Amino acid sequence: MIKAITGTKDILPSEISKWHFLEDLVKKFFNRYNYLEIRTPIFEQTALFARGIGEETDIVSKEMYSMIDRGGTSITLKPEMTAGVVRAFIEHSLGEKNSLNKLYYISPMFRQERPQAGRLRQFHQFGAEALGSTSPFLDVEMIEMAFLIFKQLGLKDLIVKINSLGTPESREVYKNELRKFLLDKKNRLTDESRVRLEKNILRILDSKAEQDQEILLNAPSLFDYLDQSSLDDFEAVKNCLTSLNIPYQVEPKLVRGLDYYTKTTFEIISQKVGAQSSLCGGGRYDLLVEELGGKPTPGVGFAAGMERILLACENENVLNLQERQVDIFIVRLDKELNYKVAEVASFLRNNDLVVDYDYLDRSVKAQMREANRLNSKFVLFLGGNEFKRGEVVLKNLADGTQANLELNKLSEIISRVK
Ligand code: HAM
Repeated sequence: MIKAITGTKDILPSEISKWHFLEDLVKKFFNRYNYLEIRTPIFEQTALFARGIGEETDIVSKEMYSMIDRGGTSITLKPEMTAGVVRAFIEHSLGEKNSLNKLYYISPMFRQERPQAGRLRQFHQFGAEALGSTSPFLDVEMIEMAFLIFKQLGLKDLIVKINSLGTPESREVYKNELRKFLLDKKNRLTDESRVRLEKNILRILDSKAEQDQEILLNAPSLFDYLDQSSLDDFEAVKNCLTSLNIPYQVEPKLVRGLDYYTKTTFEIISQKVGAQSSLCGGGRYDLLVEELGGKPTPGVGFAAGMERILLACENENVLNLQERQVDIFIVRLDKELNYKVAEVASFLRNNDLVVDYDYLDRSVKAQMREANRLNSKFVLFLGGNEFKRGEVVLKNLADGTQANLELNKLSEIISRVK
């Protein structure tokens, strides 16, 4: 038997109501903050991600699903959305049409990571990108949207972590200091960090290994090297979060796994999802548009992992949605009434009721069982003596009451059920 690929997951009808709920909530929030949806292709040229996310990042160096298509082009399934959104922003000159573009998305992403709870190879993100302003209030808007969506879902054990990575110039000075500090301790670092010392030194900061963390205790702090404008913006972010009652922790080691960040970065962590605790991550990327060939345009955004959010909801026992209900199940008392049943069902469905009936030639008893299984609010009996008199019987399954109604006045059914 052919099975689904490791790290991919079917979302079955029994789970779909949670997905719909989350998607609707996300759309409602983004609409409130005046973000418009953007949809970009599932695959892009590999070079876009290599340049946008950074050659030395784990995503680009280890996790991308890339292939050469029949035309000889290297293409990659999108591992994240920011690079694709920026590509579309440049390609369609969105910056010339609006000085500030506030965009959102909900989409599958692909990364060849080692699968575990909350970490998949095809997963879903919702996220937002705002292109055109350096205002730290937009950084806060991103954090606020994500935080309030999580709160609205009922999640409680949340930690907002924020940091500032400064400008590339200030970061460069810091990187040199950090390199100097680590060089003579190189042999005590983990193999992975030793490689990063050469290739992507900042990532050593978020190593989880105790052996690295011990060395880092006395390492220079990025904050001591930040330029004034980064410090001012970070101050504004902190003050605004406080005034909006969003609790946060400053986490100087929060460097994130993508190279495009400048100034503010953030993550929101749930303490209830185990190892993969980051529900969302984001930050500012004021140089990315230019790096990808557009006119210099600042940007900020975030993305949240939907599987992880739903896992956190499950673990915190929130998001207990009402069971799905059918409005009317039509029970056919006489076999020859199939045409009439189809006609009545069609009329009711066209009047926006959720209606179903038996397609398996079941007995009346079995049809009733099906009505109960479907959690139907009403049963409409069609057939028998009532039908001969031009009537149908509408039974309310919640309280057991029933009423005889005229078959040629089906609108009466609608008003009773709605
Ligand atoms: P990221 O931190 O790579 O950032 O991913 C954002 C979120 O996607 C994570 O916090 C996590 O919830 C979820 N996620 C990532 N990888 C997986 C996986 N393998 N399985 C399940 N969930 C996963 C970005 O993607 C940036 N584009 C965010 C951003 C937008 N920054 C600025 N704008």
